[in-house]
Formats: sequence, structure tokens, C-alpha cells
Amino acid sequence: MAGELGVDLPWQTSRETKSILSISRSFVLDLFLLLLLLSIPRSISELNQMQGYCAVASDSECGWSLTKILIKGGTVVNAHHKEVADVYIEDGIIVSVRPNIKVGDDVKILDATGKYVMPGGIDPHTHLEMEFMGTVTIDDFFTGQAAALAGGTTMHIDFVIPVKGSLSAGLESYKNKAKKAVMDYGFHMAITKWDEEVAKEMELMVKENGINSFKFFMAYKGSLMVNDELLIQGLKKCKSLGALAMVHAENGDGVAEGQKRMIDLGIRGPEGHALSRPPVLEGEATARAIHLASFVNTPLYVVHVMSIDAMEEIAKARKAGQRVTGEPVVSGLVLDDSWLWDPDFTTAAKYVMSPPIRKAGHDKALQSALSRGILQLVGTDHCTFNSTQKAFGFDDFRKIPNGVNGIEERMHLIWDTMVVSGQISVTDYVRITSTECARIFNIYPRKGAILEGSDADIIILNPNASFKVAAASHHSRSDTNVYDGRTGKGKVEVTISGGRIVWEDGTLNIVPGSGRYVRMEPYGYLFDGVEKADAAYLASLRAPVLRAQAAA
Ligand code: URP
Ligand code: ZN
Ligand code: ZN
Repeated sequence: MAGELGVDLPWQTSRETKSILSISRSFVLDLFLLLLLLSIPRSISELNQMQGYCAVASDSECGWSLTKILIKGGTVVNAHHKEVADVYIEDGIIVSVRPNIKVGDDVKILDATGKYVMPGGIDPHTHLEMEFMGTVTIDDFFTGQAAALAGGTTMHIDFVIPVKGSLSAGLESYKNKAKKAVMDYGFHMAITKWDEEVAKEMELMVKENGINSFKFFMAYKGSLMVNDELLIQGLKKCKSLGALAMVHAENGDGVAEGQKRMIDLGIRGPEGHALSRPPVLEGEATARAIHLASFVNTPLYVVHVMSIDAMEEIAKARKAGQRVTGEPVVSGLVLDDSWLWDPDFTTAAKYVMSPPIRKAGHDKALQSALSRGILQLVGTDHCTFNSTQKAFGFDDFRKIPNGVNGIEERMHLIWDTMVVSGQISVTDYVRITSTECARIFNIYPRKGAILEGSDADIIILNPNASFKVAAASHHSRSDTNVYDGRTGKGKVEVTISGGRIVWEDGTLNIVPGSGRYVRMEPYGYLFDGVEKADAAYLASLRAPVLRAQAAA
């Protein structure tokens, strides 16, 4: 892929080089930043120019030494309950949640009267600095996480892609990428081939590396796609390890045929992307994955549910009692496919992702399914490519790198679309943006809750303020934004990550390397009772039947 082959990266511009040289700080600080830049291949200096970014070099700058915080008088919201209370934080941990907490002078006070105090968002689905379709996603663990924090997300789970099928090599590569992290993160691992070595490495990932979920791509034929034989082996292995199997559910052979059909028809633009992979292919693969998971009797997590077809398969399975989790993503919930027909290529191409953003109607149906518990949590699939990268497919939609942004916009857009509209309650908002993710991936209540002992990952949202998304001022490195121009009610005014105020008054206050890797242990709650279902299955077999030897 591009990075491995040493292809020039699109963000290495002369403007950026100039900005590196123009940092005006004391010599010691310059030296520190230089060392940092050497250890972090992409430019942090551009982040000094990022809107509201305070390039801190030590804990004492920008107020980082303040580790005692009292959030006063807000409505504290958890997935199970909300109440007006104060929240006291010390050394990164929530120490107390109750009304009228008294503190000394050394405590920073944040007045949250009339505002909501909620767990920071957890995004279950991101691709930072991922090598994909001949290029690399433009947001790395610095810019992607900076964007996340500015939008109220304090943890994300990224997908490690194996290197030439090797899980360990993939993990090493992602550990390196994550050295510049500014907030907590975890990893899922993709499985792209199958042999004994992969099976052994899966065990190693779970038992020694804190990874408790594996993703199988049923599409991207010729690169990441797995066949049913591999999927069944993978499901079995996941079950034996107490790890959650995740699927990208699209029929990859069908997609290849659909692409050929479009090219034969002379349809080569971005609209050909959506036309080549219709909802029926997503519905089919979702059903197939669900049936195979049922056959193996292991929980299943369907990522980026984009269509009514896929959602209805999940609804049917859940109604029958199967453990299937459905993750819609912000783009599928709030956009429709109309932009793909825009006459301007750059505009149309920025909406290309897989499965595709669907026709109007799918968005509303997915919102409704989310409000009724048919779908359980919201991700972003943040996978950004700038307009130069998208232009790789100018005359052939099959070469447009697939992916859209969302890590910075998720919390605001879901608040506006789901809560302000009255479709869900504030407690449900916390559940679908944070708590359910923490529960599924077995990190609750350390994450996903405002409880004594939980990590101090907290947002303060002002329901009376409003937000506006703009590519010109967002924190992603991309020059485009699929939500550009959208406005709505509700604004994340403060983000606290690991007990530090990292976003306040429109200013980011972050330190590269301060983000921590969060280990996720196996056997999350979705595995409770799986062995009982196995026992019931074995008892139901009435086999093997003992038969007398046939007479000679
Ligand atoms: O278009 C997408 N979704 N790009 C990221 C890779 C994936 O399939 O999740
Ligand atoms: Zn996918
Ligand atoms: Zn993805």
C-alpha cells in the first residue's frame, strides 16, 4: 500500500514545511517541539495554526497542572439516571457525585448550571492513519483525536489492519501510530486471512494485548474480503476466546458484479459507487453473517448499518433472541445519497463510503430503529480522505477512497437529530453515544459513566447554545466535511479527558503522547449465558443414536 511503498503523502505540502519553520517560541521549547516532531512524522506545527489549538509542551502550560476540578450545579446524566449534582474530580478520577460538594481554593470550578454533564463520547468505529485503497487516511491519532475532543468524544476504538496477514505486525504498526495520541483509545483487530498462525495470534491479541473484538470484511474483494469458510472459522475462534465478532456486511462478489455492471453502462462517476452496491447486497450479507453467528452460537456486532434491509435483518434476529448488535453511523443517520449526483466531482466524491449512504428514507428508518432499541449505539466510521485523495477516482468510482468524516460531529449531530427532535431521552443519548459501547467492549464503568471511581472523561453540553459545522474551521486535517454548513442546537462547551480540561472556550489544550491505550478484556456481557445455550443445543440433539451392530 501507499505508505509501505513510500509514495508521497498528500499532506506533505510546502505550506506545512513553512509552518514548521515559523514556530516562534523559546529555544528550549523549540528544541522540545523539534524532538516531538521528529518522533511524530506528521506535522504538529499545523495544529498550532488549527483553530483554537494551544500547543502545550508541558503539563504546567495552558493550565494542565490543574488536576482538581469541581463541576457545579449541572444535570449529571448517566444511562440509567439523571440528577442535579456536583462532580468532583481528582487526578483523573471521579471522586464524588452529589449535591453541594465543598472544596478548597486549589480546585478549578466549572459552573454547569442549566447544562448537561455527561460521560464523554466513545466512538466504537474509526480509521486513523489507515492504509487503504492505495492511500492513507488523512487524520492520524493526533488530528483525529484533536477533532474528537473538540466534539466531545473522549475515547475511540480504532481498527488495526494486519500487515500482510500478520496480526502482531499490524499491532506494532498501530502502537507506533498511536504514540501521538492525545486521548484514550482501544483497538479492534481485522482478520483478513486464515491459517493456524492467525488463530494463534488471535489468542495472543486477546490474552496479552487487550483486544476483545475482531472484524471480518465481507466486501472489498481482492483485498480485505473474507469468504464464508474463513468467517465460520473466525466466528468459532472468537467464541472460544470470548471475543466479539464484528462484520462489514456487504456481499463482496455482488459488489464486484455491480461495479462491472456500472462500468459496462458507462457510469464511472461517484454515483456509480452507490448504484453498484445497493441495499439488497447489504441485507444479504447481514442476514448471512447473522445466520452463521447463530449456527456457531456466538454474539455478533454489525458495523455501519446503512440500510433498512440490514436493519430489518437485525430486528428479526433480535426478536428471535439472538445476540446481535447493530451500529449505525452518523452519516447513515443524517445524510442521504443525493449529493452523489452532484455535478461537481469533489462534492460528490466526498460522500463515497461503504456501504453507501442510502436514498432518503433509510436515514429516518435507522433513526427510528435507534430510538426503539433495534440498533444500540452510534459510531462514525471516521475514515477521512481529502479532495486530492478522492480525486484518484476522478474517471473511475472504484478508485475513489471510501470513507467520510464524523469523529468531531457525532455528538452534536446525534444530540440535534435524536434528542432535540424528541426521538430519544437525554439518558438514552448517553447510552447510545457512550455507555453501551463501554458495556459491549467490557470497559464499563471505568468508561461510559459519571460514577465515583470512573475515569474523568466528561462533557458539559449547553442545550441552549448552537453549533455550526464548517470545513474551514473543523479540526480534521481534511479540506472537506460531509456535514459542512449544518447547524443545530446543543453545544459541547467543555471536554474533560482523563481529568484534564482539554476543550474550553473554543480552545483545544492537548499534549501529544498523553493518550492512553485502554485494554479491553474478553467475555463482555454479551457472552453471559452463551454456554447455557450450547448445553441446551447439545441436549436437544438426541444423538449420537446408539445402534446395534448390523447382523453379519
Ligand atoms: O467506506 C468506509 N466505510 N471506509 C472505511 C473502511 C470500512 O469499511 O469500514
Ligand atoms: Zn467496513
Ligand atoms: Zn470502518
